[in-house]
Amino acid sequence: MRTQVAIIGAGPAGLLLGQLLHRKGIDAIIVEQRSPDYVLSRIRAGVLEQGAVGLLEEAGVGARMHKEGLIHDGTELTFDGRRHRIDFKRLVGQTVMVYGQTEVTRDLMDARTACGAKTIYNAENVTLVDYASDTPKVTYQQDGVTHEITCDFIAGCDGFHGVSRKSVPNSAISLFERVYPFGWLGILSDTPPVSDELIYANHQRGFALCSMRSLTRSRYYIQCGMDTQIEDWSDDRFWDELRLRLPPETAEQLVTGPSIEKSIAPLRSFVAEPMRFGNLFLAGDAAHIVPPTGAKGLNLAAGDVHYLSTAFEEFYTGKSRAGIDGYSQKALTRVWLAERFSWWMTSILHNFPDNGDFGQRIQEAELDYLFSSNAAMTSLAENYVGLPY
Ligand code: APR
Ligand code: PHB
Repeated sequence: MRTQVAIIGAGPAGLLLGQLLHRKGIDAIIVEQRSPDYVLSRIRAGVLEQGAVGLLEEAGVGARMHKEGLIHDGTELTFDGRRHRIDFKRLVGQTVMVYGQTEVTRDLMDARTACGAKTIYNAENVTLVDYASDTPKVTYQQDGVTHEITCDFIAGCDGFHGVSRKSVPNSAISLFERVYPFGWLGILSDTPPVSDELIYANHQRGFALCSMRSLTRSRYYIQCGMDTQIEDWSDDRFWDELRLRLPPETAEQLVTGPSIEKSIAPLRSFVAEPMRFGNLFLAGDAAHIVPPTGAKGLNLAAGDVHYLSTAFEEFYTGKSRAGIDGYSQKALTRVWLAERFSWWMTSILHNFPDNGDFGQRIQEAELDYLFSSNAAMTSLAENYVGLPY
């Protein structure tokens, strides 16, 4: 098989890249190790920046998002029994779109099927061959048969645990990492959200987040210790703990019901540099991870894919290598800005076991400043709605 761009991974990054390239008349094959159902079973954050919304429109999958997605003009933060609203629209004139990542993935998969582009699911032993040469190849096995794809470029969109980044020798890559000493225990329930907007809660018992997927489906999280066992958390125990971390009048309004999903996510900040190795380009979680505070994961992947699809377009139609040569630097600049914001949101909202009294007071001062300064609120709003590409 021959294609122009071989994309490893059919998560949001790989699928969005595939659709944008298709629209630009560039041929791509996606190779994914799992089944479509498995890919769709992953539940992740659901807040889209305007840039990501624009890219989904450009990819031709904006219709359902605009019909079913919820536009949020702001978000709330609670601390010390106080509820404080950050008004994105007033502060920076922009909004965010609440639309689940599972739905984004489904829309992209459907669009890919509709345009007849090739995705190979259930591919085993995916291997990158000669990625530094002018004739890179991707091999994989299916039903005991080995297949080979010859291409011009490989896009490694295969997530944190994927094969692309691991194919690069240690000496060619620098890794930057921070692992946080807690996780998020999350549940999804078919209950109306407790509030019209998201609520990020700083509480001495630990962080909590009230989010949503729609007007009838809620997503809630509580900060938990690394040793937390999901079996120990009945729905009732979860709801009781969540109520304790919210201001009393909010807790009273919480509508509870049976969970339809419950899981624990670790929190990590991670960046791999550079993001290009010869004709291999990393994008999305394959190159970087953010803690979920601020919901930047998918948005950051969308930014990479924007730079990468533009670079390939410049190469094929503009006959210029400038975009390709500048990709890593350009993407990493934006990545580090989102890493900073996600780390900062995490650090002001969570209970850190080894913060000490000084760290505790600094966190309180951060929140006092945020609640009282227009400049501080504007900074949060500007980053939350998404920095420009
Ligand atoms: N070969 C082929 N595919 C692979 C391999 C492999 N060796 N390893 C992993 N994959 C696939 C995974 O099965 C998954 O479908 O690559 C895909 C990577 O998808 P994500 O992990 O979702 O990564 P990405 O698309 O970069 O996601 C960007 O969306 O899912 C969130 O947390 C993620 O918020 C981030 C954003
Ligand atoms: C979510 O809805 O899952 C979500 C929303 C906002 C975040 C993180 C997760 O910051």
